[in-house]
Amino acid sequence: MNADLGNYRKSYEKGELLLDNVPENPIELFRNWFVEVDSHFNVDETNAMTISTIGLDGYPKSRVVLLKKYTHEGFIFYTNYNSEKGKAILANPNVCLSFFWHSAERQIIIKGKAEKIAENLSDGYFESRPRGSQLGAITSNQSEVVKDRAELENKLKALELKFEGKEIERPNNWGGFIIKPVELEFWQGRPNRLHDRIRYQLQEDYNWKLERLAP
Ligand SMILES: Cc1cc2nc3c(=O)[nH]c(=O)nc-3n(C[C@H](O)[C@H](O)[C@H](O)COP(=O)(O)O)c2cc1C
Repeated sequence: MNADLGNYRKSYEKGELLLDNVPENPIELFRNWFVEVDSHFNVDETNAMTISTIGLDGYPKSRVVLLKKYTHEGFIFYTNYNSEKGKAILANPNVCLSFFWHSAERQIIIKGKAEKIAENLSDGYFESRPRGSQLGAITSNQSEVVKDRAELENKLKALELKFEGKEIERPNNWGGFIIKPVELEFWQGRPNRLHDRIRYQLQEDYNWKLERLAP
């Protein structure tokens, strides 16, 4: 098999990013881009992001999760703390998030440190989830090997019966992580491969240093 993709080429022409007109705070630029993409660029799941962790085996691993909240403090998603990513983060909190919004020709890459959010915040979010998602969370030992699909479905049925008419409490091994950013890079595609890249780096005095990077 030899699949040559060398002729895949696209000119990027949908926007620009200039040091003179970006906010000093990168979370504000994140919000501007997120809202714009969500409302004007026909993206499914604007909040889908890739999170890369350094695994216990020393390899980086990336997978998609859903951003559920962002504030000036950081970016929150929910998962199983005993999953492969959960164990990786608890051993090494340095992670990388990335968003690629194809139709807007935009990419954002965020390096940061992940930590568990407060238990009451995870409780609140778990309570707000549909019952099916709550049952799914307690059914799945995320990232463990399962014999077959029937094993999962039988476990789900058993838990449906066990919790019929009862409230489902958040399991201790499920909850949110917040990623507190130390560096954010905003990439806007431009013609002739001269793309715009603006990097924000957190300084010791908690101000952000802004620089343009070569594409
Ligand atoms: C669109 C999409 C959204 C997802 N959202 C989440 C999520 O919010 N939390 C989560 O734990 N897994 C989510 N997943 C599944 C993860 O990509 C991954 O398969 C799972 O978390 C197990 O990863 P791990 O074994 O590396 O820990 C999502 C997958 C996709 C494709």
